[in-house]
Formats: sequence, structure tokens, C-alpha cells
Amino acid sequence: MNKILVTGGCGYIGSHTLVDLIQNGFDVISIDNNSRSNPYILLGVEKITGKKIKNYNVDLCSFDDTQAVFQENNDIIGVIHFAAYKAVGESVENPLLYFENNINSLINVLKCCELFNVVNFVFSSSCTVYGNPDECPVTENTKIKPAESPYGYTKQMGEEIIKQTVNSNKINSILLRYFNPVGAHPSIEIGEIPIGKPANLVPAITQTAIGKLPQMQVFGNDYPTRDGSCVRDYIHVSDIAHAHTLALHYLIDKKNISNADVFNLGTGNGYTVLEVIAAFEKINQVALNYKISARRIGDVVGIYANNEKAKNALGWNPIFNLEEMMSTAWNWELKLKEWAI
Ligand code: WQD
Repeated sequence: MNKILVTGGCGYIGSHTLVDLIQNGFDVISIDNNSRSNPYILLGVEKITGKKIKNYNVDLCSFDDTQAVFQENNDIIGVIHFAAYKAVGESVENPLLYFENNINSLINVLKCCELFNVVNFVFSSSCTVYGNPDECPVTENTKIKPAESPYGYTKQMGEEIIKQTVNSNKINSILLRYFNPVGAHPSIEIGEIPIGKPANLVPAITQTAIGKLPQMQVFGNDYPTRDGSCVRDYIHVSDIAHAHTLALHYLIDKKNISNADVFNLGTGNGYTVLEVIAAFEKINQVALNYKISARRIGDVVGIYANNEKAKNALGWNPIFNLEEMMSTAWNWELKLKEWAI
């Protein structure tokens, strides 16, 4: 009786979380319609864990199809909800696509949790809910400012929907606010498979370094920071994954203070874009072809986490440093080339 449903299990953070859950004794199933993910990633999960993963190729925007999965798996004790569109730029171009997909899917999963008495719910949120913070490091009590994109609004709305609807007599939830997930599992059997031209910094770095992209742009070096480029809190995806296992134990052991406890998942260290590039070049002995270009609309100047609450309450301690994030990211890009992906 320890089956966990992971929505978006074929995704970047979802697949790494499947590995961590299995290695910590949980039984897992996935729901993923592969609209933004590659089902082959589950072969990598199987190679690492020795477990074959059952993925239901179901659109969570269909309540009936979602309910059927819960019906077939009436021994689910918890849900980790990753499935959502997450490209900031795309959300600006097509906001209704993001509100329709990200909100409807969340509502359907919550309704099924209530219907089938699944009492533990972990939500994939993001530091993007803070908008452009007035000060850093941000704590979970830092004022929530207007989001910088429709994607960010879907995360803010998602958190509010959960806080307002999760009845603590039935369901208890945890909201995990990721900072910037990067890197790949140390086995290099799973990692991020961006679809199309990568929007995020680290895949842009690795694809430029391997020659998939001719040159990358640094979006602005005239910000009020150490070297003029934006500051972010980069966190290894395997550290993020392990936090989900700890969050489930926290809920199962009924340690939660409220029906929707919030935790920042970052290292607490802020690095500039240029510092990340320098670290990548140094650890991988690769020269990167980049140029400084105009600022990107929607970028915040800088954000990094105060992660004390997750450390104290969840017993979470991120273990990967920036160099390991850059080396695993690069080794994964090399593996993708080997597989001709
Ligand atoms: C980081 C920095 C860019 C690409 C977003 C989401 C967040 C989370 C992570 C889901 C910025 C700069 C980037 C490039 C660059 N997603 N950059 N050249 O925007 O901080 O966060 O992704 O959970 O919710 O908002 O991440 O990697 O896109 O950008 O200079 O080619 O790298 O300007 O300063 P971001 P990012």
C-alpha cells in the first residue's frame, strides 16, 4: 500500500522523481499524454531502477479518462502533479492554451483525489510565483507579486485553487516552489529532452556547445548585478526529485501544519548567467560561442531561495554543486548525440 501516481512522469523532473520514489521503496505509475515529453525516457528509468513503469497515455483535461486511471488503481495513496505546460515564452504567445491545459488538468486530478480518497497531494509549483522580488533570498512568506507571464499565473492560480479547495479533512497537500532545475541523473540514463529550440539557459548552453545551435545569446548584461547578467538559483534535478519523496513522507506521517504547506526548493546560492557559462566551460573544458544581446521580456533581475524551511521540516539537503550540475548536463547532451536525438 504505497502506490504513488506521478502525472507528467515522462517529463524532466517527473522521470527523475520516479527514480527517487522507486529507490525509496514506493510503487509508482505515471499519467503522461506525451504532448511535451518522450515516453522513451521511461526506458532510462527502468535501466536505473530495474522497474518497468506503467504509463497511462491520458489527457488529464479529460475528467472521464483521468477518473478511469484512478478507478483502475484504487490503491493510490498519493499524487505528485507535474503535468503542465511550462514554456514562459509560449505562454505569452498563447495564454488561453496555458490556462486551459494547466488549470483544467489540475482541477480534474484534485476532483479524482477527492472522489477516490487519495489524501496526499504534492504540487509542482515554481519560484516564478514570486514575480520580481524586492529582496533576496526569498522565503515562503515573501510577498507574491504579479506574475511575469501566463505560465507564472497558472502556477499562482494553481496554488490558490489547492489552498481554497483542499479540505484538510480529506486531502493534505504540499506546494513545492522549484527555482531553476538543471542537470541530469548521475547515471546519464535520463535527463532533459527539450522540444524545439530550448528556452532555458542550460539546454541552450549544452546545445550550443555540441553544435546543435550555432551560437547562444546572453539576454542582457546591463542589469544591476555582479556582472550585469541575471541571477538565478540553479538546483540539480535529482535534488529536486528527492524533495518530492521527502514531501510524501512528511504528508504520510501527518507532519504538515496546514492543508497546503509551501516549500522553496533552491540551493540558496545565486549565480549570474555569465558565471554559469564560465562554470560550464571550466568543468567541461569546452569554449562556448555566445554573444550579449538585448534583455528578454519577462526576465526578473535576480531571484534565489532561502531554503531553511525545506531543510528543517522536510530534512532536505541539496547535494549537487554548480560544477556537477554543468558536468551532468553536458554528459547528457553527449549521450543524446550518441543516440542521435
Ligand atoms: C535563466 C536566465 C535568462 C536562455 C524559467 C521559468 C521557471 C522554471 C525555469 C519551470 C535568465 C538567461 C536563458 C538563453 C539567456 N521553469 N538566458 N540565454 O526564466 O529563470 O525560469 O525556467 O519550472 O518557472 O520561469 O529560466 O533558464 O529561461 O533563464 O541568457 O538562451 O538565463 O535571461 O536570466 P527562468 P531560464
